[in-house]
Amino acid sequence: MLKIGFVGWRGMVGSVLIQRMIEENDFNYIEPIFFSTTKFGQICPIFGTNIQDAYDINKLKKLNVIITCQGGDYTDRVYNSLRASGWKGYWVDSSSKLRMDRNSIIVLDPININVIEQSLYFGIKNFIGGNCTVSLMLLSLGGLFKHNLIEWINSMTYQAASGAGSKHMIELLNQMRILGNIVNNKNHAKSILEIDSKITKYMSKLPIKNFGAPLAGSLIPWIDKKIDNGQTKEEWKGNVETNKILGFYPNTIKIDGICVRIGAMRCHSQAFIIKLKKDIPINEIESILKEHNPWVKVIKNDINYSLKKLTPAAVTGTMSIPIGRIRKLSMGKKYISAFTVGDQLLWGAAEPIRRMLKILVMS
Ligand code: HSE
Repeated sequence: MLKIGFVGWRGMVGSVLIQRMIEENDFNYIEPIFFSTTKFGQICPIFGTNIQDAYDINKLKKLNVIITCQGGDYTDRVYNSLRASGWKGYWVDSSSKLRMDRNSIIVLDPININVIEQSLYFGIKNFIGGNCTVSLMLLSLGGLFKHNLIEWINSMTYQAASGAGSKHMIELLNQMRILGNIVNNKNHAKSILEIDSKITKYMSKLPIKNFGAPLAGSLIPWIDKKIDNGQTKEEWKGNVETNKILGFYPNTIKIDGICVRIGAMRCHSQAFIIKLKKDIPINEIESILKEHNPWVKVIKNDINYSLKKLTPAAVTGTMSIPIGRIRKLSMGKKYISAFTVGDQLLWGAAEPIRRMLKILVMS
């Protein structure tokens, strides 16, 4: 059995990964060893084994595969020394640190199993989870990518608090509670303008240590650092990671847009404007999309279906990738719109990593 080391398994993505592995009986096929940067020496609550020191290169060296959900700083601190020590195992990482490295493959097997298999054949050892919006976009539009029908995509995102981290989720809830408490049984009959002016007053007093601005009752049109061309890093990733995942040269398919943080908990949504390479009827587009993978669900462009099936509230905690609002735009016959939602912690983070481990175990 392969010896698999887990680092960062107590964090948000790591916990979702472990939960999914338990659901899928993945632990039956591996020898798991749990590591921690702080809790080594303690007993692992899942398997009752001793937790090992995640900085101990000699212990890490004995593993066939390391799966880390610990974040980029850990990768920075450990990866190079581990390779320098002669370790030849597989490094599977949910952080973005090594994603664009030429010796790394970004994993999303329903989309790029051919790229993954080829790289295994050529001895690649680093398999990295993609940015969540990119993975969710690719799964929703997989059919159009597969049939080489996309000229470009404008993607406008509506990203959940979980993408920023667990402290951010708590901060959002605290902001919501403070605003929500303004309306109670005693004052709900007051004039809405009176209530609204109180909300406006409280907005400037909300806790914003993590987000830097109120998110409850508002939004933040900026995610991650600024890069030189005026994009945010999150927007830049849309283009570069998509092309890398598909095994294309940079910029083969152009993707750009604005990434926005909204007050959803763990589902990212995205609105697309897509220029197709040719005019295809909507029913054909829908068939191409739904035939691509078992998780994508085409949602009828209708109010009831959209409200019931195409919202973060409907999708959260599920593996479904609904895509709806599909229609031709007034700009021309090759232009369509679409809207998709996906759980940022499942298909957006943990699941591609879990499936990559399975591929390694089976290969
Ligand atoms: N960068 C993403 C976000 C999450 O901030 O929502 C990780 O892919």
